[in-house]
Amino acid sequence: MPVDVILGLQWGDEGKGKIVDYLAYQYKVVCRFQGGPNAGHTLYINGQKQVLHTIPSGVFRADVHNLIGNGVVIDPITFSKEVNQLRSHISDLEQRLLISQKAHLILPTHRWIDLASENAKGKNKIGSTLRGIGPTYMDKTGRNGLRVGDLLSKDFKQKYTAIKEKHYQFLRQFPEVEFDIKQQEVQWFEAVESLKQFPCVASEYWINSFLEKGESILAEGAQGTMLDVDFGTYPFVTSSNTTTAGVCTGLGIPAAQIRKVIGIAKAYCTRVGSGPFPSELENAVGERLRSSGSEFGATTGRPRRCGWLDLVQLHYSIMINGVTDLCITKIDVLNDFETFEICNSYLLKNGSVSQQLPYQLEEIEQCNTISLQGWMRNLNGINRFEDLPDQIKVFNKHVEDHCKTRISYLSVGPGRDQLIVR
Ligand code: GDP
Ligand code: IMO
Ligand code: MG
Repeated sequence: MPVDVILGLQWGDEGKGKIVDYLAYQYKVVCRFQGGPNAGHTLYINGQKQVLHTIPSGVFRADVHNLIGNGVVIDPITFSKEVNQLRSHISDLEQRLLISQKAHLILPTHRWIDLASENAKGKNKIGSTLRGIGPTYMDKTGRNGLRVGDLLSKDFKQKYTAIKEKHYQFLRQFPEVEFDIKQQEVQWFEAVESLKQFPCVASEYWINSFLEKGESILAEGAQGTMLDVDFGTYPFVTSSNTTTAGVCTGLGIPAAQIRKVIGIAKAYCTRVGSGPFPSELENAVGERLRSSGSEFGATTGRPRRCGWLDLVQLHYSIMINGVTDLCITKIDVLNDFETFEICNSYLLKNGSVSQQLPYQLEEIEQCNTISLQGWMRNLNGINRFEDLPDQIKVFNKHVEDHCKTRISYLSVGPGRDQLIVR
């Protein structure tokens, strides 16, 4: 059995965690393949909210192995906090969770550099989660990084110190950034010990052995396509490939093994942090979406910017990822909207109408939208697509026709089972 992928098609927070948790029981292994603790994936287990940052969202399913892949960057401090939070719910966590030897480590000084870089950018700042993600990937591609496998080497401390000294040299340019390195370091080394309790494996061999045995694997994306370092709204992006291509490099699996790509999109759009957002509503309607959808970041608590669903953007993400199945989440957030809109083309500043994302999204003058009727009722008790209100069927048809992709899942609430499967 091959590899299926679940990933975000917008700017993150599409509800990936919930869908991974729902589908995980069908798989032998669930893997994170990129990103790090900038992610915040929310699950509801027995009505209790759980937010995962580094640990895959299959962890609440017994009999499922969870792998943190080589493409992920791990902060031992956040990781050990997550582990402690999970221990009271999962007694055999060490049996369910493995870590790739080739995953890179976020050092305390990486977070410090993240902050200094953001401060230096002034009003052009990215709005980073300040979790040290960018600087850690820079050290990875700059061939200076420290990996999980290094934790076992005798000269680990020397390697750590050499990188820290390099970071200090860089940080001398930013004397205004204050950081309690002593206290952070103590915490970090304690957390490293906690991380070492988990099997650190040659994950590319480990995962391919499952594929050879015909077992099924689910790859869980973090962030979203519009935050991809190559195809997102650069430079307002994260530092990894959040797209299907990232599955191969982030896990060490052949592209030909990828079967289904389940793309997740909200019934509207949100973005947290800076950068262009064509269908953003900086008005009372945007506020209404934010409060109806509880749109506040799962990692930083920041209010998310809100806007209408953007089909031009969605179509682009479907193309980049080779999405085979669409999952629309948070449709219930529109339950009380008499009417709502979806964007189906852009009017560019040069006067032309476009179905493509321009190189600079600032070239967009406005989003052309169509207005649709709302359904003005709650969706409790609906379990089948056929039983959906006609207005949702009309919405689905617009999305499917524009994107030429079938909607296979419709999420109607945050709970694990609040999902209509086609
Ligand atoms: P992720 O990063 O993609 O996993 O998404 P987040 O967890 O950051 O944000 C999604 C938020 O929406 C979380 O609070 C979820 O509990 C919630 N959520 C997910 N699906 C639905 C849905 O269908 N309806 C509603 N109302 N909330 C949802
Ligand atoms: P999940 O997996 C939403 C955004 C940040 C910022 C930009 C760069 O929960 O969907 P970084 O910390 O990576 O340097 O930040 O990317 N960002 C996210 N936005 N959901 C996420 O993850 C995000 N991870 C990063 O807000 O704009
Ligand atoms: Mg999130």
